[in-house]
Amino acid sequence: MPGLAIVGAQWGDEGKGKITDLMAEQAGVVVRFQGGNNAGHTIVRGDEVYKFHLIPSGILYPGKLCLIGNGVVLDPKVLADEIEGLKRRDVDTSGLRVSANAHLIMPYHMLLDQAGEARLGDLRIGTTKRGIGPCYADKAARLGIRVQDLLDEKILKQKIYAAMEPKRLMLRPFEKEPELDLHAMTEDYRTFGHRLEPYITDTSRLVWDALDDDRLVIFEGAQGTLLDIDNGTYPFVTSSNPVAGAACVGAGVGPRDINDVWGVTKAYVTRVGAGPLPTELDDEIGAHLGRVGGEVGTTTGRPRRCGWLDLVALRYAARINSLNGLAVTKLDVLTGIDPLRVAVRYSGPEGATFDSFPYHQSIMHKARGEYVELPGWHEDISGVRRVADLPQNARAYLEYISEFVGVPIVLVGVGPGRDQVIWSESTRPLQAVA
Ligand code: GDP
Ligand code: IMO
Ligand code: MG
Repeated sequence: MPGLAIVGAQWGDEGKGKITDLMAEQAGVVVRFQGGNNAGHTIVRGDEVYKFHLIPSGILYPGKLCLIGNGVVLDPKVLADEIEGLKRRDVDTSGLRVSANAHLIMPYHMLLDQAGEARLGDLRIGTTKRGIGPCYADKAARLGIRVQDLLDEKILKQKIYAAMEPKRLMLRPFEKEPELDLHAMTEDYRTFGHRLEPYITDTSRLVWDALDDDRLVIFEGAQGTLLDIDNGTYPFVTSSNPVAGAACVGAGVGPRDINDVWGVTKAYVTRVGAGPLPTELDDEIGAHLGRVGGEVGTTTGRPRRCGWLDLVALRYAARINSLNGLAVTKLDVLTGIDPLRVAVRYSGPEGATFDSFPYHQSIMHKARGEYVELPGWHEDISGVRRVADLPQNARAYLEYISEFVGVPIVLVGVGPGRDQVIWSESTRPLQAVA
């Protein structure tokens, strides 16, 4: 009963979509377990580029069971548009299923997200403004509206009324917005309900069935470990738990159902939005990483902040997620930068140094990377498919990472394409799992 969790080991956008797509070929089920359409997962197949916000990155295999788990917050309009977009491109979406227990993002969640950010001013988080935080807040407050509520007009209207009343004051500037009209909202969401009804089911059961049948289940994470609401750089985080442990809660399985946990990490770091990034580069090298790596947000189009690889944060991510494999993406982007640097500790305020990830917000805000220099390489590696064919310095860079973090590298990305990947010898047996 193999369960494989694929999670972000940094601040999101590590390339989870690509790795999930690669592994999904052998999987029975791919399930998203948290987050919402704040995510943007890119898959490149030849000349075709797909960007998924809600639909799991296994959907390109016809009929593959792709589940949106109970832990996800779901904007039904975004999902309906995503399904339509795929149908227009002749992608078979018959394997898609949506948990009846997933929570719905409502129009007022998006307005509250915008209003909250505006109110914070300079202290803003830099959210995607997709209503993620307010939706999870309503879930915790037990005022959430779930996918199953779409199917009953009376219940839907009652629940929207109960959820919206406490927000009227906060939304006063938007009082006249037509999208806040109770009747129109109920009508709109009923229409989404009709469109999504064929997909709505008990997704946990489908995961259990696959596990019982010994089929591979991939738990596809969104965002990344350092954006985790409990373990990340709070309050500059998302409102869910992108760590591997949350795969259990958000897909409805127990910890023993997950056998392998792979952390996806870029060969450097990026971050979209505000918050600490101890290895950030405000110089030409940072700009170079952004340019060569195409570091623009998949969901919001914002430029991503770039920096040297942060091994302090990565080792922390390895511990929090109990990683037993690292997927290192975008090694190709480092080609030509010589020497390279990796952060092995932080310097903090008043000359203090930190070998491990500091829990205190004030320290994290002032933390700066202390580096080890490693020699770079100049050869084009985008066509390399075997570790042995990588330049010696690229191999040494990977070995340094793996040794420092204490986790074996299972694969390396050398370009956005599906084939631009180097599998490690140790991963090959896992590839054979059907
Ligand atoms: P995700 O949110 O973790 O799925 O990542 P995104 O899709 O937001 O961002 C990753 C970007 O890097 C996408 O544009 C991918 O096509 C691209 N990508 C993934 N792996 C590689 C790689 O190994 N090399 C390069 N150059 N690009 C990659
Ligand atoms: P994927 O799955 C990168 C960031 C936002 C912001 C913070 C909170 O593509 O890796 P939110 O809208 O979630 O309340 O915003 O989290 N963020 C992401 N950054 N990749 C993502 O998803 C992200 N999802 C949210 O930029 O800093
Ligand atoms: Mg992304």
